[in-house]
Amino acid sequence: MRTGDFMGHPAQPAGLPGRETPSLAVMLSSQTEQLALCRELEDIADSLPASVNRQKCIFAAQALATLVKRSHAYEEDVFFPWLEALSEADAPLLSILERLKFEHFEDECYAEELVEVLMKLGRGDPVNMEATGYMFRGFFEARRRHIAFERDHLLSYIRP
Ligand SMILES: [Fe+2]
Repeated sequence: MRTGDFMGHPAQPAGLPGRETPSLAVMLSSQTEQLALCRELEDIADSLPASVNRQKCIFAAQALATLVKRSHAYEEDVFFPWLEALSEADAPLLSILERLKFEHFEDECYAEELVEVLMKLGRGDPVNMEATGYMFRGFFEARRRHIAFERDHLLSYIRP
Protein backbone atom coordinates (compact mmCIF):
# COMPACT_ATOMS: atom_id res chain seq x y z
CA MET A 1 0.00 0.00 0.00
CA ARG A 2 1.37 3.43 -0.89
CA THR A 3 1.92 6.03 1.79
CA GLY A 4 -1.33 7.86 2.38
CA ASP A 5 -3.47 5.03 1.00
CA PHE A 6 -6.53 3.98 2.91
CA MET A 7 -7.75 0.39 2.61
CA GLY A 8 -6.32 0.06 -0.88
CA HIS A 9 -7.75 3.28 -2.28
CA PRO A 10 -5.56 6.34 -2.83
CA ALA A 11 -6.00 8.87 -0.06
CA GLN A 12 -8.51 11.57 -0.94
CA PRO A 13 -8.66 15.12 0.30
CA ALA A 14 -11.02 15.44 3.26
CA GLY A 15 -13.40 17.40 1.08
CA LEU A 16 -14.03 18.03 -2.58
CA PRO A 17 -14.98 21.55 -3.64
CA GLY A 18 -18.72 21.98 -3.63
CA ARG A 19 -19.33 18.48 -2.26
CA GLU A 20 -20.46 17.45 1.20
CA THR A 21 -18.00 14.84 2.49
CA PRO A 22 -19.87 11.62 3.21
CA SER A 23 -19.78 10.30 6.74
CA LEU A 24 -18.75 6.69 7.31
CA ALA A 25 -20.64 6.76 10.62
CA VAL A 26 -23.87 7.80 8.89
CA MET A 27 -23.46 5.10 6.23
CA LEU A 28 -22.70 2.36 8.76
CA SER A 29 -25.53 3.38 11.05
CA SER A 30 -27.99 3.44 8.15
CA GLN A 31 -26.86 -0.01 7.00
CA THR A 32 -27.10 -1.39 10.54
CA GLU A 33 -30.68 -0.10 10.81
CA GLN A 34 -31.59 -1.60 7.44
CA LEU A 35 -30.09 -4.98 8.37
CA ALA A 36 -32.04 -4.94 11.65
CA LEU A 37 -35.21 -4.29 9.66
CA CYS A 38 -34.31 -7.20 7.36
CA ARG A 39 -34.10 -9.43 10.44
CA GLU A 40 -37.54 -8.20 11.56
CA LEU A 41 -38.98 -8.97 8.12
CA GLU A 42 -37.37 -12.41 8.17
CA ASP A 43 -38.92 -13.10 11.59
CA ILE A 44 -42.32 -12.04 10.25
CA ALA A 45 -41.89 -14.20 7.13
CA ASP A 46 -40.97 -17.16 9.36
CA SER A 47 -44.07 -16.54 11.50
CA LEU A 48 -46.46 -16.87 8.54
CA PRO A 49 -49.18 -18.00 8.43
CA ALA A 50 -50.16 -18.97 11.96
CA SER A 51 -47.99 -17.01 14.39
CA VAL A 52 -48.05 -13.47 13.05
CA ASN A 53 -47.42 -10.74 15.63
CA ARG A 54 -49.68 -7.98 14.31
CA GLN A 55 -48.07 -5.18 16.30
CA LYS A 56 -44.66 -6.17 14.95
CA CYS A 57 -46.06 -5.89 11.41
CA ILE A 58 -47.29 -2.33 12.07
CA PHE A 59 -43.90 -1.29 13.51
CA ALA A 60 -42.07 -2.87 10.57
CA ALA A 61 -44.38 -1.07 8.11
CA GLN A 62 -43.68 2.28 9.80
CA ALA A 63 -39.92 1.68 9.78
CA LEU A 64 -39.90 0.47 6.19
CA ALA A 65 -41.90 3.47 4.97
CA THR A 66 -39.16 5.89 6.02
CA LEU A 67 -35.88 4.04 6.44
CA VAL A 68 -35.32 2.86 2.88
CA LYS A 69 -36.06 6.27 1.31
CA ARG A 70 -33.96 8.10 3.91
CA SER A 71 -31.00 5.78 3.37
CA HIS A 72 -31.20 6.08 -0.39
CA ALA A 73 -31.52 9.86 -0.22
CA TYR A 74 -28.22 10.13 1.71
CA GLU A 75 -26.44 7.78 -0.68
CA GLU A 76 -27.74 9.46 -3.81
CA ASP A 77 -27.53 13.08 -2.61
CA VAL A 78 -24.21 12.90 -0.72
CA PHE A 79 -22.22 9.69 -1.11
CA PHE A 80 -22.65 8.82 -4.79
CA PRO A 81 -22.09 12.38 -6.12
CA TRP A 82 -18.95 12.56 -3.96
CA LEU A 83 -17.72 9.27 -5.43
CA GLU A 84 -18.52 10.49 -8.94
CA ALA A 85 -16.41 13.58 -8.33
CA LEU A 86 -13.32 11.66 -7.18
CA SER A 87 -10.35 11.97 -9.48
CA GLU A 88 -10.16 8.18 -9.66
CA ALA A 89 -13.81 7.74 -10.65
CA ASP A 90 -13.68 5.63 -13.80
CA ALA A 91 -16.19 3.94 -16.11
CA PRO A 92 -16.51 0.75 -13.99
CA LEU A 93 -17.18 2.76 -10.82
CA LEU A 94 -19.70 5.00 -12.59
CA SER A 95 -21.51 1.98 -14.01
CA ILE A 96 -21.61 0.37 -10.52
CA LEU A 97 -23.22 3.55 -9.17
CA GLU A 98 -25.82 3.49 -11.96
CA ARG A 99 -26.64 -0.12 -11.13
CA LEU A 100 -26.95 0.65 -7.41
CA LYS A 101 -29.27 3.60 -8.13
CA PHE A 102 -31.46 1.29 -10.20
CA GLU A 103 -31.53 -1.21 -7.31
CA HIS A 104 -32.59 1.65 -5.02
CA PHE A 105 -35.46 2.47 -7.36
CA GLU A 106 -36.55 -1.19 -7.54
CA ASP A 107 -36.33 -1.66 -3.77
CA GLU A 108 -38.32 1.52 -3.07
CA CYS A 109 -41.14 0.25 -5.31
CA TYR A 110 -40.94 -3.12 -3.63
CA ALA A 111 -40.91 -1.50 -0.17
CA GLU A 112 -44.14 0.38 -0.94
CA GLU A 113 -45.87 -2.92 -1.72
CA LEU A 114 -44.44 -4.48 1.43
CA VAL A 115 -45.73 -1.61 3.57
CA GLU A 116 -49.24 -2.26 2.25
CA VAL A 117 -49.02 -5.99 2.98
CA LEU A 118 -47.55 -5.39 6.45
CA MET A 119 -50.41 -3.02 7.26
CA LYS A 120 -52.91 -5.65 6.11
CA LEU A 121 -51.23 -8.24 8.32
CA GLY A 122 -51.24 -5.72 11.17
CA ARG A 123 -54.96 -5.13 10.74
CA GLY A 124 -55.65 -8.85 10.46
CA ASP A 125 -56.93 -8.48 6.88
CA PRO A 126 -56.64 -11.55 4.64
CA VAL A 127 -53.52 -11.85 2.47
CA ASN A 128 -52.07 -14.57 0.28
CA MET A 129 -49.62 -15.98 2.83
CA GLU A 130 -47.47 -17.87 0.36
CA ALA A 131 -47.04 -14.87 -1.95
CA THR A 132 -46.40 -12.63 1.06
CA GLY A 133 -43.64 -14.86 2.42
CA TYR A 134 -42.04 -15.01 -1.01
CA MET A 135 -42.26 -11.23 -1.34
CA PHE A 136 -40.64 -10.62 2.06
CA ARG A 137 -37.79 -12.98 1.31
CA GLY A 138 -37.17 -11.44 -2.11
CA PHE A 139 -36.94 -8.00 -0.52
CA PHE A 140 -34.68 -8.67 2.45
CA GLU A 141 -32.36 -10.95 0.49
CA ALA A 142 -31.92 -8.28 -2.20
CA ARG A 143 -31.32 -5.61 0.49
CA ARG A 144 -28.69 -7.72 2.20
CA ARG A 145 -26.86 -8.35 -1.07
CA HIS A 146 -27.01 -4.66 -1.95
CA ILE A 147 -25.65 -3.59 1.45
CA ALA A 148 -22.90 -6.24 1.40
CA PHE A 149 -21.83 -5.01 -2.04
CA GLU A 150 -21.70 -1.38 -0.89
CA ARG A 151 -19.70 -2.41 2.19
CA ASP A 152 -17.23 -4.46 0.18
CA HIS A 153 -16.73 -2.09 -2.72
CA LEU A 154 -17.66 1.48 -1.80
CA LEU A 155 -17.31 2.23 1.92
CA SER A 156 -13.53 1.90 1.82
CA TYR A 157 -13.44 5.12 -0.23
CA ILE A 158 -14.57 7.11 2.83
CA ARG A 159 -12.03 8.02 5.45
CA PRO A 160 -13.16 7.06 8.94
FE1 LIG B 1 -27.58 1.63 -1.47
